[in-house]
Amino acid sequence: MLIHLKNILGPQELSKVQELLVGADYVDGKLSAGRAANQVKSNQELASDDPKIEMLNHIVMGNLVRHKIYQRAALPLKVASPFYACYQQGMYYGEHIDDPVMGTPVAGQKYRSDLALTIFLNQPDEYQGGELSIQTDYGLQLIKYAAGDAVMYPATTRHQVNEVTSGKRLVAVTWVQSMVKDAEQRALLYQLSCAREKLLRKQPTEEHTKQVDLVYVNLVRQWSEL
Ligand code: NI
Repeated sequence: MLIHLKNILGPQELSKVQELLVGADYVDGKLSAGRAANQVKSNQELASDDPKIEMLNHIVMGNLVRHKIYQRAALPLKVASPFYACYQQGMYYGEHIDDPVMGTPVAGQKYRSDLALTIFLNQPDEYQGGELSIQTDYGLQLIKYAAGDAVMYPATTRHQVNEVTSGKRLVAVTWVQSMVKDAEQRALLYQLSCAREKLLRKQPTEEHTKQVDLVYVNLVRQWSEL
């Protein structure tokens, strides 16, 4: 299931984020890649010790974790600190699959990457190419969303970032370990949560609303692993 998360960042937050990213010091993205991905990765990332990262995370991740659709679709247990990546003209990230387990080996800091997220930090007309291309069961999906939007997709898929042929592509990339490991169960819960939200809003006192609510809540309880 690919989920389009809209308006994670508003115009003011975006301009603050862009201000922080412009003129930042970037390092070779190969430094953070796994062994296989290393061969195909050509981009730049903000160094992990850059003091700007704390401010960026406060804005970008703060907004992401409060986003209602994100919460319902991801059912997150852990979310990684993102990478802030810049793809200049000629840069790309060839086809790869993300590492299954990430994070530092310190106890409790490892997480399983169930879902991958790309948050777009500049407008699609500011660069040519640079689409995120994801291989799904229903064919190739080419993703290039508005600044402030994000795509969330299963980290189990093969994917790539097409070459940027002009301009500059700015994104934040992160991963989520979900409380619900099984992607099919997670997708069912998301569908059910959409119906539940609508019923709770429109018919909060109806018996059928209470039944749907009970089923949703107890399925989350049954399928969650903490
Ligand atoms: Ni990837």
